[in-house]
Amino acid sequence: MFIRKRRGWEIPEREATPEALYLDRRTLVRGLAAGPLLLAGGGLAGCYEQATASHDDVQVAEAPPDPTAGLYPVTRNLRYRIDRPLTDEEDAVTYNNFYEFGSHKTIHRAAQALKIRPWTVTIDGMVEEPMTIDIDALIRKMPLEERVYSHRCVEAWSMVVPWSGFPMAKLVELARPLSSARYVVMRTFHDPELAPGQRQHWYPWPYLEGLTMEEATNELAFMVTGVYGKPVPRQMGAPLRLAAPWKYGFKCIKSIVQFSFTDMRPVSFWEEIQPREYGFWANVNPEVPHPRWSQATERTLSGGRIPTKLYNGYGEFVQHMYKDMEGERLFA
Ligand code: MTE
Repeated sequence: MFIRKRRGWEIPEREATPEALYLDRRTLVRGLAAGPLLLAGGGLAGCYEQATASHDDVQVAEAPPDPTAGLYPVTRNLRYRIDRPLTDEEDAVTYNNFYEFGSHKTIHRAAQALKIRPWTVTIDGMVEEPMTIDIDALIRKMPLEERVYSHRCVEAWSMVVPWSGFPMAKLVELARPLSSARYVVMRTFHDPELAPGQRQHWYPWPYLEGLTMEEATNELAFMVTGVYGKPVPRQMGAPLRLAAPWKYGFKCIKSIVQFSFTDMRPVSFWEEIQPREYGFWANVNPEVPHPRWSQATERTLSGGRIPTKLYNGYGEFVQHMYKDMEGERLFA
């Protein structure tokens, strides 16, 4: 059950928003239904197309409370500002991509089946010493803060989310990678009995993503443990997910159980399924269309359509990492 509480800290950004930008969620869903995209082969637009599918009939027992609930809310880091209002919490937590629980947007009930305790995170590969750490010990070791980031999906919708968590650089510091490590590969849990999507053998489970070491230690790369001043809900990737706001949302892997340091560039989940459409870098760029649709604008979950910005508006923090990389497909 989602109980919506408006907090004091939500008010200033909301007040700064022209009313015309607000449309109700039904208007958004109607908009999506009006323009379905053709799905050629497996791909993310499949869930865009099915945005209106209803799975309200899924019966899942009430999930036990999260043991870290008392840690939130945490102080917002005002270095990361954004000139758009926060997305309504109810919209953000009921419109999700989490293929482990279905290839449509309304997986929030089904995802409550995810068991988030006990939960351990393994750090291995090219590190001084591999380790497995309990999620609560990890969260309590880390400096938690809140960051309001724009979250832009490759399907051309976006939201503005107050994530709580800690800089990924802190996790890298804890991991003590060898100097030869060039990438960090992240994996989601794999439990087909619990997650019906993982019984669909045509997907290359478990979900996998990767960043270069430079990206993983960039100040924007953020490990998410909470959202809207509470522990992150299961459908948004509890108990630990990535937010890399200059990249398309599919890079932001959910429910992570493993970080492996390596010198080999990984092939990520979507890249393996459809390499023509989804690459390794996946940086946001309005001028580079997806093979099946434009990326010039995005539909906000609050309603309305806005221009998409290069690196999702975070160029000042990240563009230096991609200098002199001619020949790399940086934007899809
Ligand atoms: N992580 C896992 N494990 N499984 C997924 O299906 N979907 C990705 C990403 N992380 C996905 C995932 C995609 S396509 C997007 S757009 C974002 O999660 C969606 O995050 P949200 O549901 O919190 O908005």
